[in-house]
Amino acid sequence: MIRVRFISVSGEEREVVAAEGARLLEVAQNDGQPLEGTCEGQMSCSTCHVIVAADDFARLPPASEEEEDMLDLAIGAARTSRLACQIVLTPDFDRLTVRMPPTHRDMQGR
Ligand code: FES
Repeated sequence: MIRVRFISVSGEEREVVAAEGARLLEVAQNDGQPLEGTCEGQMSCSTCHVIVAADDFARLPPASEEEEDMLDLAIGAARTSRLACQIVLTPDFDRLTVRMPPTHRDMQGR
């Protein structure tokens, strides 16, 4: 079983069960989390950015250089930020906790 916990910007927590091999982005979107994922995993948008709980971050495989480059552009990026489209869930990641980043364009004055 792979359980994933989402924490909204306002702090609301939801736990969902994900299928092995599912991408974190799909799991989040199926749960109604506000991740646009505009480029559908092509690593050219960063609208699937999430902040991984510090304890869980080390369990994930390291980000590729391309992912790091996109994260540099993500609004509200933190040290444990990742692109949800690049995370394929396996049982090793059971109880992964990720936070939604501060609301995108609002902080940029839209
Ligand atoms: Fe565009 Fe992840 S969906 S970078």
